[in-house]
Amino acid sequence: METLLEQIDRAHLPQHVAIIMDGNGRWAKERGEDRLFGHFHGVQSVRDIVEASAEIGIRYLTLYAFSTENWDRPQAEVAGLMELLVNTVRREVDQLKKNGIRLHVIGDFSMLPPSARQELSEALDLTAENDQLHLILALSYSGRWDLTQAFQQLAQKVQTGAVRADSIDADTISDHLSTRDFPDPELMIRTSGEHRISNFLLYQLAYAELYFTETLWPDFRRQHLFEALLDYQQRERRFGKTSEQLTT
Ligand code: IPE
Ligand code: IPE
Ligand code: MG
Repeated sequence: METLLEQIDRAHLPQHVAIIMDGNGRWAKERGEDRLFGHFHGVQSVRDIVEASAEIGIRYLTLYAFSTENWDRPQAEVAGLMELLVNTVRREVDQLKKNGIRLHVIGDFSMLPPSARQELSEALDLTAENDQLHLILALSYSGRWDLTQAFQQLAQKVQTGAVRADSIDADTISDHLSTRDFPDPELMIRTSGEHRISNFLLYQLAYAELYFTETLWPDFRRQHLFEALLDYQQRERRFGKTSEQLTT
């Protein structure tokens, strides 16, 4: 029996995989535990997926860790998540550095506590020379925030004359999003059985293949990622064309 990993065609991997890591709270609840217990266990999934992505040859991995809307959760959960973030980044940064992984962060950092900002900026510096896997943490992120800040930048450039309004095209917009240095994701995975985007990469997901699984994030491991990659490789990406156009 061929393993899942062996069935994956390495020549046709998505360059960029984006994941909505959902279901930590329900995972904890099933065990009669506090929601933070679920977030805590979700870190192990992050570790495994980052490691497997680097090994298999994915170049960009974006993880939705905390949305703009998540600031409205109970204060104890928000504080617990921020503490978990700072501790995890501190603990993992050496390993990232060793494994050729470059960390990036996208989101509205003005909302983050100074300790988190400090820890993140050190981790960004420490891994800045790496190029094997770009790990992009979407933190205090939302798609509408991203588009809003892009339009603000553009409007200012139009006002000063640096950009002509009639020269703005889809690429101009991409170039002002927080993801300007990364290609659009070809595959977006959401765990926990929810079928929605929840204000993730709204513009960038325009042609992503969407993959939904019932698996809760703390149970998600590399085998689940491989299943998603195999599913992706069986799809026909038509980009508006007909199937016949693609084969000729
Ligand atoms: C995802 O798990 C993690 C974050 C949003 C920070 P949830 O905390 O949303 O877990 P559920 O969806 O309530 O189970
Ligand atoms: C989306 O999950 C955000 C993250 C995974 C970080 P949520 O659990 O916050 O999404 P909704 O509120 O159920 O749509
Ligand atoms: Mg959720």
